[in-house]
Amino acid sequence: MEKAVAERTIRLDGKNTTYIIRVNRTGHLENLYYGKRLRQDATIEPLLPNRSVGIGTAVAYDENNPLFFMETACLETSTPGKGDFRTPAVVVEYEKGMTTLDFVYNSHRIVKGKPEVPGLLAQSYAETAQDAVTLQIQLRDRKLPILLQMNYTMFVGCDVIARTCILTNGTKEKLVVRNLASLQLDLPDANWDIVSFDGAWARERGVTRRHLESGITEISSTCGVSSSFHNSAVFLERPDCTAEKGECFAFNLIYSGNHREIIEKSPFSLARFQTGINPQNFSWILAPGKEFTTPEAVMTYSCSGNNTASANMHTFVNKHIVRGTWKYRQRPVLCNNWEATYFNFSEDRILELAENAHDLGVELFVLDDGWFGQRDNDTTSLGDWFVNTKKLPQGLTSLANGIHSLGMLFGIWVEPEMISRVSRLYDKHPDWAIMIPGRNPSVGRNQFILDLTRKEVRDYLVRAMGEVFTLAKADYVKWDMNRIFSDLHSVEGYFMGEFSHRYVLGLYDVMSRLVREFPKILFEGCASGGNRFDLGILCFMPQIWTSDNSDACCRTRIQGGTSYAYPASTMGAHVSASPNHQTLRKTDIESRFNVAAFGVLGYEMDLGALSASEKQAVKNQIAFYKKHRALLQYGRFFRISEGVDSKDKEDANRVKWVVANADYSEMLVLDFQILNQSNISQEILRIPFAKPEFDYVIETREQKVPVSQFGSLINMISPVHISQEGSVKKLIDKNVMLKNEDEYHIVSGDVLAYSGVRLSPQFSGTGFSSNTRVLGDFGSRLYHIYRVERKSKNASKNAK
Ligand code: GLA
Repeated sequence: MEKAVAERTIRLDGKNTTYIIRVNRTGHLENLYYGKRLRQDATIEPLLPNRSVGIGTAVAYDENNPLFFMETACLETSTPGKGDFRTPAVVVEYEKGMTTLDFVYNSHRIVKGKPEVPGLLAQSYAETAQDAVTLQIQLRDRKLPILLQMNYTMFVGCDVIARTCILTNGTKEKLVVRNLASLQLDLPDANWDIVSFDGAWARERGVTRRHLESGITEISSTCGVSSSFHNSAVFLERPDCTAEKGECFAFNLIYSGNHREIIEKSPFSLARFQTGINPQNFSWILAPGKEFTTPEAVMTYSCSGNNTASANMHTFVNKHIVRGTWKYRQRPVLCNNWEATYFNFSEDRILELAENAHDLGVELFVLDDGWFGQRDNDTTSLGDWFVNTKKLPQGLTSLANGIHSLGMLFGIWVEPEMISRVSRLYDKHPDWAIMIPGRNPSVGRNQFILDLTRKEVRDYLVRAMGEVFTLAKADYVKWDMNRIFSDLHSVEGYFMGEFSHRYVLGLYDVMSRLVREFPKILFEGCASGGNRFDLGILCFMPQIWTSDNSDACCRTRIQGGTSYAYPASTMGAHVSASPNHQTLRKTDIESRFNVAAFGVLGYEMDLGALSASEKQAVKNQIAFYKKHRALLQYGRFFRISEGVDSKDKEDANRVKWVVANADYSEMLVLDFQILNQSNISQEILRIPFAKPEFDYVIETREQKVPVSQFGSLINMISPVHISQEGSVKKLIDKNVMLKNEDEYHIVSGDVLAYSGVRLSPQFSGTGFSSNTRVLGDFGSRLYHIYRVERKSKNASKNAK
């Protein structure tokens, strides 16, 4: 049998990476190479495993292959029972609970582009045949007619490989799928750091790094959504990998439900990575003749630091995940009433908020929670998607017309997947709520989840939402989801191990129907902020509310962590009130903007309540954002310094991000200081990837410095004494803002890249001039860097 299978290698090339699979003499698929792109004539032989000695206690594949131990092979897939004792990718029970399977090569084909994977509603796509190449390999069990098809699509331009598996039951008995990983990558050594993105509500996706040690590290979600606990994105980095140098892999899953990522260091110091549906609480009955398709997983490789891996993922998301009208389209600046009013508003109040926002340049007004049913707090009305006439007596359409007549787009908040016990919907359909009959149900935010595994519930939702979107003439929809799962059960008769996955499939069905019916609407996903920030949602909704926490300092961590796997165009980022409603931290209005500018900008506050000088600041911010929006939303993003998530302790107090255009002739830099220090050393702005052959201007975005930052020092310059407690001080604090320091440099790209520019000193308690930078705690600057031609190289500041 082995002799009949020709020795064969299959190679996939991206722009900068190569992936090589070998069909070995026993028919198993081994990974020979995944890394930097190889020459077409590269020698393959040295990559072949050298198997010439036996291993005590090991299980050899069979009597004809006494030196082939599955345990020490880098395999493309794995099963229990044939000597591989690492975590298996495929666990399928047959007969009386047996799980031994042995998948060997049957056939393969390579096609241009990416054929759609049947039955997957959320998947990547290629617009042209040149964008991708797809390998489909079919394996079959040596004994039973069970087939495993593995698809590999290399998206050539961004070096991302998408993988999916399809298991077909060709037997006459039902099978139980206990686990089917979407992707397995075995690496020949285990010297890796695992980087995961962890947190909870309001502190999503902080960066966690640890070295891979013997045994298994698991990153997973079991709460029914991809979760803010552990995102499905995972990086493996060499210990010396930095933002700009060194090797790393990045992985993610196109899925919004329970996921599991395994990173295992085997006794033989191999590393195994797997990702897919979390097998905990999962089992799928596969009837004879039926197939099961896993969600797609994606991976990329970089030999030039984790910024490159992120950039690959960003291009992949913008080009091969986000689709429809809003693909690569600049997203509007929005204003949302949630933190301005919470549930307490009237039509007049909303119109007033919208007018104030419009005056400052906001393009889209979003009406948040509270507009429907009897919704005056979060205990009622989810499911009753008809207008609350006490608050909006003229109805949604009239409000939409009012907002449209201001020249703004109108958007509306919904939470379709939910049902409140106190609602007409619950009175009518109590069995639509996910609960277990006879058991007291657990609750989350006083609400229950609708059983989207049922078609009649999904049909109702599509209808109900369609009516809302039409009545509201919605240009934008914020699709919220504010609790996680408990009491898993459906009145439908299927096997309950299938529940969680069926829910995700049901959700995708609803979303895909609505997106198809309303192709022009800009959808923003939300789940108490970023509790479902994943590639599955992004297949339907081009942007996601990153976190309910809009505190600028916290956001540097949240957006920074999110930026590893997701581009700025997907991250909703708002300027909100100070003190912040989640942290009570005070941050000046400019710094709040500077951080939010590295996402899809919005304002979530009563802009009318700002002082005249703050309003002017906001007006300038929005104008600046619109001018640079293409760069901020779609430019190439780099983390230079990551604050508390920095590997280097020296950087722990600083967050520096850069977005650059394609040829690096224009960049915007965020420089955010967490806590102020006094008398610090010279600060240097260095952009390692600036083009040495260019000349650049560096200028600071003009921003206001609140006089309140100076406290009683104001008396050093004021002709009359100003009491710190009096109303004059309060008036000054509210209304007087100074211009920021003069900071302007002309620099050759080599100096900027190799050494950097010496910035003006920060305020240090010993003096103040027009050059002094006043940042304070949580203060920041945005630097605009752009190429200048040689003739203006010696230009004076006035020449700009
Ligand atoms: C969630 C969202 C918020 C807001 C509220 C409304 O918490 O994340 O942005 O929409 O619900 O209830």
